[in-house]
Amino acid sequence: RRVLFRSGTGSTANFFIDALGEIRHRIKGAVASSESTAARLAARGITVFDLNQIDQIPVYVDGADEIDHSGAMIKGSGGALTREKIVASVAEKFICIADQSKLVDVLGKYPLPVEVIPMAAASVTRALKQLGADPVLRLRDGSPYRTDNHGYILDLGGLHINDPKTLEQQINQLAGVVSVGLFALKGASVCLLGTEQGVRHIQY
Ligand code: A5P
Repeated sequence: RRVLFRSGTGSTANFFIDALGEIRHRIKGAVASSESTAARLAARGITVFDLNQIDQIPVYVDGADEIDHSGAMIKGSGGALTREKIVASVAEKFICIADQSKLVDVLGKYPLPVEVIPMAAASVTRALKQLGADPVLRLRDGSPYRTDNHGYILDLGGLHINDPKTLEQQINQLAGVVSVGLFALKGASVCLLGTEQGVRHIQY
C-alpha cells in the first residue's frame, strides 16, 4: 500500500530519505520537519505535504541526539525541534533511527535545545538557571542562530535528566519557550539501533 511518511532532519534521517527515494512509487508523500528536509524530499521525487493538509500520519521516522532505555529522547541539534515536535504530536508511531552511540542510561550529556521567542531569551535563561541548567545562546557566524520559525535556541549543558517527563513539563511552562527538544511525554515507540552486530529492534 502507499504509505504517508513523516521524515525528520539530520544526517541519519538524510540516509533514510535517500532510501525512500528508491521506493517513491510506494509512498503517497511525506510531511517535512524543516525547510532543508522538504527540499531533500522534493529532490527525490517525494511529494511534500503541508501538515495542515493532513489528518493522520501513521509513521514518523527520525534520528535523535540521545535516546534512553524508556524511549525518551533529546532532539534538536539541527535546530528543527519545534517542527519535529509538532509533527510527532500528530504521528501515531515514532520510529527512532540511530546508531548505538546515541543510546544512553541518563539523558543530558548532549546539550538540550530549547527554542525561545527572541525577546524572552534573557528571562528564559534566568529561569532555566534556576532549574539547574547552564543555557548557552546558539550562535551562527557570531549572531544568534535563527530557526525556521525565526526563534532563538538556548542549548542547556550540565544536565543529568533523571526525570525527563517532569523536566519537559517544567520547561514547556516557561513564558517565551516555544518548545524543548526533550521528547519524553511522547517518546519513541520503537528504536532501530545500528550496532556492529546489525540492527537492534527495541520496542517501548
Ligand atoms: C534535528 O533537529 C535533530 O533532532 C536530529 O534528529 C538529530 O540531531 C539527529 O541527527 P543525526 O542523525 O545527524 O545525529
